[in-house]
Amino acid sequence: MERIDKVVATGFGCSRKDSRGVILRGRVLVDGIICRDISMKVDPDTNLITVDGNDISFKKNVYIMINKPKGILSASNDKSRETVVDLVKNDFPRDGLFPVGRLDKDTTGLLIITDDGDFGHKVISPKSGIEKEYIVTLDKPVTDADIAVLEKGVTLADGTVCRPAVVKPYKGRTVVSTTITEGKYHEIKRMFGVVGIGVNELSRIRIGKLVLDVQLDQGQYREISDEELALVWK
Ligand code: URA
Repeated sequence: MERIDKVVATGFGCSRKDSRGVILRGRVLVDGIICRDISMKVDPDTNLITVDGNDISFKKNVYIMINKPKGILSASNDKSRETVVDLVKNDFPRDGLFPVGRLDKDTTGLLIITDDGDFGHKVISPKSGIEKEYIVTLDKPVTDADIAVLEKGVTLADGTVCRPAVVKPYKGRTVVSTTITEGKYHEIKRMFGVVGIGVNELSRIRIGKLVLDVQLDQGQYREISDEELALVWK
């Protein structure tokens, strides 16, 4: 069950404060009866909820795929800098949106933004072992010996042990595909640092079997369908 003011805010696309005004003015019907109780609990799956006679379909959670642009922070909000949530919030006016995991400020590519905390925790938990694939542009070619080291799992300078990665030439040996199953701080950059290679560009293209939509330019986003969402766990 959900509070009617939350359901109206989400379904009607307004703030929680405005939704209370809409309810108090008698514009909302629940199963055909005017509801002026802003704290009434409703079941959006079974109750018919209308505003000014229009059915408002309510989705409990939203899942957005964004191609994160360079220079934008992977965070919900920040005092002075623009965040990925700032980019989507006009089209998705919901409380509690957050990015699932963090990409560095200069990293681009696939990021999921949601208001589903359980989903977010499961995706980033190392226990789930979900693959994340990146296209990595290096400052020099990677050798077979380097790949063997990375695929065994490296130990970083501070003692952090990384799980084995999968590294494959993508466009020659300076642009490689790298797949990891966890998300330690600056993991890819630090892993390549161990074999003496710098990372010039980093872009995530896949989470599980969910692939970044090639139609999305940097900064563009769209909702993820239920079928696509299931691919995260495959
Ligand atoms: N690894 C990094 O070093 N940076 C990212 O943004 C993601 C993975």
